[in-house]
Amino acid sequence: MKTIYLFLLVCLATTSSIFGQKFENLALTPPMGWNSWNTFECAGVNETVIREMADAMVTKGLKDVGYEYIVIDDCWQIDRDENGYIIVDKEKFPSGIKVLVDYVHSKGLKFGIYSDAGTMTCAKRPGSKGFEYKDAETYAKWGVDYLKYDWCYTEEQDAKTAYKLMRDALYKAGKPIVFSMCEWGENKPWEWAENVGHLWRTTLDIDMKGRFDGNINGNLIGWSDLVDLQVGLEKYAGPGHWNDPDMLAVGNNDMPINEARAHFTMWAMLAAPLMAGNDLRTMSFSDQEILTNKELIAINQDVLGKQGFKVKDYGNFEIWQKPLLNGDIAICLFNRETSNNKYQVNWKQMNIKGFSEEYSIKNLWEDKTIGTTNTNFLIEVPARDVVVFRLAK
Ligand code: GLA
Repeated sequence: MKTIYLFLLVCLATTSSIFGQKFENLALTPPMGWNSWNTFECAGVNETVIREMADAMVTKGLKDVGYEYIVIDDCWQIDRDENGYIIVDKEKFPSGIKVLVDYVHSKGLKFGIYSDAGTMTCAKRPGSKGFEYKDAETYAKWGVDYLKYDWCYTEEQDAKTAYKLMRDALYKAGKPIVFSMCEWGENKPWEWAENVGHLWRTTLDIDMKGRFDGNINGNLIGWSDLVDLQVGLEKYAGPGHWNDPDMLAVGNNDMPINEARAHFTMWAMLAAPLMAGNDLRTMSFSDQEILTNKELIAINQDVLGKQGFKVKDYGNFEIWQKPLLNGDIAICLFNRETSNNKYQVNWKQMNIKGFSEEYSIKNLWEDKTIGTTNTNFLIEVPARDVVVFRLAK
């Protein structure tokens, strides 16, 4: 009996080391936080910015509604020492990273860091290739909670192998770390990364100036184009493994309020990670209101973990659905036109999956309950804007 037991134990141990493992029970709802890249890029990021952003996340009410990760993107690292351990850029981060991690933790928040699977990061700082185990060990020692792992300068590397290698390194280091894969969807990570990362980018970078659409200019894509690229990916998302259409551009470059509302709503509907990228210290009141809307965040963070999908497409006017816990349903009318659009809501003809009975309707941005689905009505959706309903049984 004892021998069989031992044999089974050995089998189990070998299996998990052959197949590797990510940290389970992390990111059971889409991660929420802030990332330095879209506003500060390489030149502007430093420890003062990161500290002040952690402060602002608390004072501006973002922490209260669920934002938790403060992520330093590229450019915190400068070199490696003679043993291969990463060296922090002391000009930008004179106190080192550990002190900053402790500071962020002292605010009740979590800390994220950035590296790259290749020889260099996208901003040409040292990448992790060949140093995966050392880097993972370092992050664990610092108390890091989240790693964004990029895909620049990877030449002939195989994405699956490279991301699994870092997953295994993180696991071995022993500190639970959310693994955010950033290979821009080039190798269709949704098809193979469920057991590798907790989230994976599905596209190239969002236009950090927050443009609505158009002009796929190098790496920059308007946010509504990113929405199109999520169609059909919904079956790959769920608790602990999310499609990531990139960070939020709300508040960047004075994005108009209607577009900011529509952008935030679509990210909520898509069960996308909600990573703000604006300057939280100086954001406008309307951007703050959008980023902290509890009803929309509840749609995004719904524990059923279903990614929303399109149920009707009239060209520049679309209807999206997101199934929620207990049979509730979020419905979003998305008007991409630059003019207002009147829409006749006919509940039974909207193609809503699982629509079965009478629901009460709440208009989420207006924060108003407006009757039940037994009544149809005409509604106006403003230009480049949304109307979102929560249907409750
Ligand atoms: C890539 C990523 C971005 C950002 C930059 C940093 O472009 O996709 O999100 O991390 O690198 O250099």
